Amino acid sequence: MARSRTCTRELRCALLVAQFAVLQSGAAAAGPVLTPELGHPASAELVARWNLSIYPDGRGLPAGHGTAAQGRPIYQARCAKCHGTDGEGGSGGALAGRGPLTDPDPDQTVGNYWPYATTLFDFIRRAMPMDAPATLSDDEVFAVSAFVLYLNRIVGLDDRLDADSLPRIRMPNRDGFIGIDAELPASPASLPGR
Ligand code: HEC
Repeated sequence: MARSRTCTRELRCALLVAQFAVLQSGAAAAGPVLTPELGHPASAELVARWNLSIYPDGRGLPAGHGTAAQGRPIYQARCAKCHGTDGEGGSGGALAGRGPLTDPDPDQTVGNYWPYATTLFDFIRRAMPMDAPATLSDDEVFAVSAFVLYLNRIVGLDDRLDADSLPRIRMPNRDGFIGIDAELPASPASLPGR
């Protein structure tokens, strides 16, 4: 039974390949290329909306700015219900605290774990608040990022965060991470231990 099913599948594949070859040669002769007609080309506007990545060195950061003082009310309204009033955690985990990561079950917070302030901005902008992602303006994301950094005693209440100042913040655990621009080995075979 299993064998005949395989044969049928193989036969169907062979037929599809043959049909495709016929289509291709027909298309070449007739001019227009036949496509499966799946999806449609992404517009420049759509690409821009999804092209949100911010690099550790700050490439991709938008215009705008904010301070922790401005971010506090936004945080309390949009984030505290899951992360606690002072970032102590709740359903969404702790955001503040500088406890050692060597504890048996450490809280990985922004203060003791996150390597770059720039990618904190990226994460909050694209993924938070979890119940309504990507609904904050860029100014609000700068402000709320500043407040999370303030809770971790990394910036002051009135320090202005923007595309220029954010990449210059040095996160406490920066050196605990391997740079993502590190050169990769040429092939898996050259990885240590293989
Ligand atoms: C409805 C609940 C909820 C709300 C509201 C929410 N978060 Fe989160 N947040 C989560 C959960 C759950 C995670 C863990 C997600 C994961 O690990 O992928 C998380 C993860 C995070 C992280 C990463 C933490 C880490 O150490 O990896 C940050 C930073 C963060 N949230 C910031 C915010 C900010 C700022 C707001 C408000 C603008 C917010 N969150 C609102 C639920 C929430």
